[in-house]
Amino acid sequence: MMSLLAVFFLLLIFGFLFWWLVIETEGVYLGRRMVIFLYDLYASRYDRVKQFDEHADLMLISQPIMACIQPQADPLILDVATGAGRLPLIMARNGCFRGHVIGLDASRRMLDVAWRKVAAERFEGYITLMRHDAGEGLPYDDDAFDVVTCLEALEFLPDPQAALKEMCRVLRQGGTLLTSIRIDTRWMPNRTWNDQKMRCELKALDMRDIRIEIWQEDYSQVWARKAGECEPIGAGARDQVLPSPHQVAIP
Ligand SMILES: C[S@@+](CC[C@H](N)C(=O)[O-])C[C@H]1O[C@@H](n2cnc3c(N)ncnc32)[C@H](O)[C@@H]1O
Repeated sequence: MMSLLAVFFLLLIFGFLFWWLVIETEGVYLGRRMVIFLYDLYASRYDRVKQFDEHADLMLISQPIMACIQPQADPLILDVATGAGRLPLIMARNGCFRGHVIGLDASRRMLDVAWRKVAAERFEGYITLMRHDAGEGLPYDDDAFDVVTCLEALEFLPDPQAALKEMCRVLRQGGTLLTSIRIDTRWMPNRTWNDQKMRCELKALDMRDIRIEIWQEDYSQVWARKAGECEPIGAGARDQVLPSPHQVAIP
C-alpha cells in the first residue's frame, strides 16, 4: 500500500513538473534551445490553438501603430519573435500601410508557417522573414527602425531585459515601441514583469510616453516612444538593413 502511494506521489510530482516546465512556461527554464524546439514542434498547431481574432488585431494593433506614426505611412518595422507572422500580416492587411515589416524568429517552422501565409496573400513586397536568435542581440545598427514590436514573446527570450534594451537601441529617436507583458506573473518568476517593473525598465532606457493597457485575457500591451526626434526611416531603407551574412532569409 505504502509503495503504491509513493508511486502515486512521484507521478503527481512528475506530472506537475512536466506541466510547469513544458506546457505552462513553454521550456523557458530549460534553456533557449528547448523553447525553440518546442515552438518548432508546435508550429503547425499554433494558429489553431491561438485563434487570433483578425478584426481585433487590426483595431488594437495595426490601426494604433499607424495612428502613432502618422503622417508617416511607410514605416520600417522590426517584429521580434514574429512567430507565425501575426504582426507582419495584420500590418500588410491594413489598407493605409505602405511600409515594410522585418519579422525575426528563431524557430524555422514558425517562420515556415508565416511564410506560407505571406505567399498566399501575395504580401512578399511588404514582409521579410528572417531566422535569428534574439538572445544574441539584434543584428542592426542603432536607430534603424521606425517601429519595433515584440508581442507575447519577451518572457520567452533568454534575457528579457537585454532583449528590451536591444529593441530600444535599434528604434530611431521618436520611434514607437509596442510590446506586451503577461498579466498573471505567478508561474514565471524572474521572467515576467508587472506594470511597475516594465515602466522602470523603459524609463531607464530613455523611453517616454509609456502606456500600459489591458489587451487580452493574458496580456497587457505596452506602448512607448523613444526620446528625441529624427526624420522617419521609411520602407526604402530596408535594403540597407538586409541581408546580413549571419541571417537566413525565408524562404
Ligand atoms: C508566443 S509566440 C509569439 C509569436 C507572435 N509574436 C505572436 O504574437 O503571435 C513566441 C515566439 O517567440 C519565439 N522565440 C522564442 N525564443 C526566441 C529567441 N531566442 N529568438 C527569437 N525568437 C524566439 C518563438 O519561436 C515563438 O515564435
